[in-house]
Amino acid sequence: MDAISVIRTKRDGGRLGDDQIDWVIDAYTKGEVADEQMSALAMAILLNGMDRAEIARWTAAMIASGERMDFSSLPRPTADKHSTGGVGDKITLPLAPLVAACGAAVPQLSGRGLGHTGGTLDKLESIPGWRALLSNEEMLRVLGDSGAVICAAGDGLAPADKKLYALRDVTGTVEAIPLIASSIMSKKIAEGTGSLVLDVKVGSGAFMKNLEQARELASTMVGLGTDHGVRTVALLTGMSTPLGLTAGNALEVRESVEVLAGGGPADVVELTLALAREMLDAAGLKDADPAKALADGSAMDVWRRMISAQGGDPDAELPVARERHVVTAERSGVLTGLDAYAVGVAAWRLGAGRARKEDPVQAGAGVELHAKPGAAVAQGQPLLTLHTDTPEKFGWALEALTGGVEISPAGTAFTADPIVLDRIA
Ligand code: URA
Repeated sequence: MDAISVIRTKRDGGRLGDDQIDWVIDAYTKGEVADEQMSALAMAILLNGMDRAEIARWTAAMIASGERMDFSSLPRPTADKHSTGGVGDKITLPLAPLVAACGAAVPQLSGRGLGHTGGTLDKLESIPGWRALLSNEEMLRVLGDSGAVICAAGDGLAPADKKLYALRDVTGTVEAIPLIASSIMSKKIAEGTGSLVLDVKVGSGAFMKNLEQARELASTMVGLGTDHGVRTVALLTGMSTPLGLTAGNALEVRESVEVLAGGGPADVVELTLALAREMLDAAGLKDADPAKALADGSAMDVWRRMISAQGGDPDAELPVARERHVVTAERSGVLTGLDAYAVGVAAWRLGAGRARKEDPVQAGAGVELHAKPGAAVAQGQPLLTLHTDTPEKFGWALEALTGGVEISPAGTAFTADPIVLDRIA
C-alpha cells in the first residue's frame, strides 16, 4: 500500500476500501505518511466526500489508533454532551454538574477555543488554581467523587485525530462533514461514554451555516454513535446570535454560576435544561427533574465539589479585564440583529481567544451584551461592553462589530427563532 494510490483513489472520485483506510490512518499516526500527503487526502475528501460506510471505517480506524477508556466500574450510567461550538456557548459548565446532581456520571472531555468560538477549558482556567490536565486515574477519581469531571482529552485518546485536526486547521480542510463527524465521534466513542447528546449549532456563529448541512452532520454522527453501541441523540440549536449575555472566559464562568444559583439568562437556562433532559433520558434516568436540581442548589453543590477536586477555588474572585469600552445604540428602535459571528470575532480580537494553538488567552477579555434581539432600545443606551487588558485592540474589535448590530424602526415586529430547531435520533 502507498499514500499516492490512496490519494489518487479519492482525488478521482472513487471510494476508499477498508484496507486503504486502515492503512493510511495507521501509517499517518506512526509518521509513515507525511503531513503533505495527508493534507492532499483531506482536501480530496473535502471535495469529493465519503459515503457512510467509508466514514464508519475511517472513524473506527481513528478509534483504533489509541486507547479506549472504560467507565463500567462506576455505579452510575454515563452521559456526555458535545457541542459543535458557538459564541457564548458556556452550557457545559452548568450542564455537567446539573446532570450529575440528577444521578448520571458525566465524563466531559472538552477542548480549547480556536478562532471565534470559545473553549470550555479556557473558560474554566479563569478560576484560580483549576487544572484541565488530569491523568486517567485522577479523571476517574474526580468522576467517582463528584459525579462530573470536565478535563482535557489525554494524548492516548484517538491520537490520529489529534494530528489530523491540527493539520486540517492549517490547510482549509476543517469544514468537511465526513472529517468533522469522524473527528468528534472517534474521541467520544474512545472516551467510553454510554450515552451522548450532540448539540449541533446552526447559524452565522457556527461551522454549519444552514439547517440542511447541520442535519446531515447530525445524522452522520448519530449513526456512528449508534453503530458503536453509544445511545446518541442530536439537538440542532440556533447560533445566529450569542447564547446568554457574555462571550469570554471569566465572563462566561460568572454567568454559568448565576445559572447554577437558579438565575441567569433565559436562553442559557432553557438550553441547559433541554440538553439535561436528553442526557438523562439517554442514560435511562427518565424520572429525574433537572429544573428542581437547579432550584434546590444540588447542581451548585456538585459544581463546587468538581471545581475543588481539580484544584480550583469556587469562592475565588474571578479575573476582571483592566479596560472597558461601551458601545451605545446609534438610534432608537428595536434591536433586530446581534450577529454571533461578529460578537465572537470581537471577543477573540479582545484577547478571549487565540490565533494559534500555543497563544495564551486573557481570562477577563470578552464582550458583555446589555440587550438581546427583540429589545426596544433608546439612542445612546449601552448595547455592549468590550473588556480587555490590551486597550489598543478596541479599534480592531469594533471593526469586527461593523454591520453586526441591526436596529429597526420602533414598532417593527420581531420573532426570535426557537432555541431548539430540530432533534435527530
Ligand atoms: N470539533 C472536533 O473535535 N473536530 C472537528 O473536526 C470539528 C470540531
